[in-house]
Amino acid sequence: MAILRSVTILIAFSVLCCFLTSPPPLLSATAAAADRTELATEVCRNTTNFAFCRDAIYSDPRAPDADRYVLSYIAFGKAYSNATDTRDYIAYKIKSGGGKPEILRGLKKCLGHYEEAVRILAEMLGNLDSETFSGLDKLSVEVEGLPRACEKRFGGRSPITTRNDNLIKLANICYVVAKLYEYH
Ligand SMILES: *[C@@H]1O[C@H](CO)[C@@H](O)[C@H](O)[C@H]1NC(C)=O
Ligand SMILES: *[C@@H]1O[C@H](CO)[C@@H](O)[C@H](O)[C@H]1NC(C)=O
Repeated sequence: MAILRSVTILIAFSVLCCFLTSPPPLLSATAAAADRTELATEVCRNTTNFAFCRDAIYSDPRAPDADRYVLSYIAFGKAYSNATDTRDYIAYKIKSGGGKPEILRGLKKCLGHYEEAVRILAEMLGNLDSETFSGLDKLSVEVEGLPRACEKRFGGRSPITTRNDNLIKLANICYVVAKLYEYH
């Protein structure tokens, strides 16, 4: 009886070993796919908010095959159109004149910050066109500081917190992408 039991255990072990040493084809394929994680996903893992980054970057159909150059256009382009949209929104809010005077004052400061953000992001896109890759990380940090400065203009009652947060996170993605040019 005891012998039979050890034989059973032995068989169980060898079956297990076979599985471990030569995984079935399906498992190997999965492992191989995991080995070549898309650059866009790797980049998003280095950002402050993975899900936000993935949603933003993968809304562009070029994302799965993107190298760092294409990824730069995707990230800077997203941040640029986002900043432009918020700049126009703020300008519209100021024009319609509604809201308390302190909110209006804050919005006017924010308009300046967003104009600056749009200018820097346009410069970054221009640098991509001319293949000037150094300094893109510093410019990304500058961009990130502008929605932060805007947010502080309202003494804790910002009417555009979500928009500011979006640009902060998009600028962070730009920064991680820009850093790719340091590791050749
Ligand atoms: C992620 O960050 C690590 C640590 O700083 C760095 O070595 C790596 O190259 C980065 N990868 C990407 C895709 O950003
Ligand atoms: C700005 O970015 C956020 C987050 O990706 C997105 O939800 C929003 O639609 C964007 N707005 C524009 C105008 O690009």
